[in-house]
Amino acid sequence: MKDIKKIKELREILKPLKHKHTIAFVPTMGNLHEGHLALVHKAKEIADITVVSIFVNPLQFAPSEDFSNYPRTLQEDIKKLSKLNVDLVFSPSAIDLYPNLEEHTKVSVPILSDEYCGRFRPSLFDGVTTIVATLFNIVQPDSAVFGEKDFQQLHILKKMVEDLAFPIQIISVPTVREQDGLAMSSRNQYLNADERNVACEIYKILHAMQDDLLQGRPQAETIMDATSHLQKKNFSVDYISICDKKTLVLANTDHKEIVILIAAWLGKTRLIDNLSFSLL
Ligand code: PAF
Repeated sequence: MKDIKKIKELREILKPLKHKHTIAFVPTMGNLHEGHLALVHKAKEIADITVVSIFVNPLQFAPSEDFSNYPRTLQEDIKKLSKLNVDLVFSPSAIDLYPNLEEHTKVSVPILSDEYCGRFRPSLFDGVTTIVATLFNIVQPDSAVFGEKDFQQLHILKKMVEDLAFPIQIISVPTVREQDGLAMSSRNQYLNADERNVACEIYKILHAMQDDLLQGRPQAETIMDATSHLQKKNFSVDYISICDKKTLVLANTDHKEIVILIAAWLGKTRLIDNLSFSLL
């Protein structure tokens, strides 16, 4: 397995391979856990060659956020990927990707990028679409694999690919969870022991909300109860939204395919999760 830093070198290696082989791409910010490895397994299943990028993308962090503290574990990540027989790792430097950050061209999916997580993290999704579009142009894969844990991100990236006619298939992989249901995330390691013990309440409340909605309970009541339950467990809730799974607009009684999106803080850690189900 090769760890490549330079765009030109990656292109030179991939160019002759593209004619005969399919390429699956897994973009990551590193600090790889089982959730990322599930994306890699999927990539290996669907294509001949797997490329994984590791890049902590400054554009998707606001100045007040955890960019400088974000866990960087490149050597361990490379070992994990090499065990899985990944073909190529691309770990560029920020200066190569963004020689001048302020003047860099942005890719933006309007409206949806300002909703839900975008309301609380205004730089997030333009940063994500810009880096993913750039990486897509560098790697030019046939398919790219993303986790369903970042449900809004997945939706926005699918829209970007459709709108900008990238010839790339977006494949999603279900969220990988700890035994108690907590969705795996690199940010879970910020939790202290007490916080870690209650972190799974998000997963529990998603299921309680699903039961309530299946029994016909009004959405507003369901959201109010879930919010106060999480607050009693010391969460500070950014939002709990009941959405149409296909469009991510707020669901009304006509919508039957539902996804509940939650973002909440425990101390200094922001956790997100979601649950989709059918109301039929
Ligand atoms: O989901 C992530 O880890 C990041 O948002 C991504 C897609 C790698 C872009 O930096």
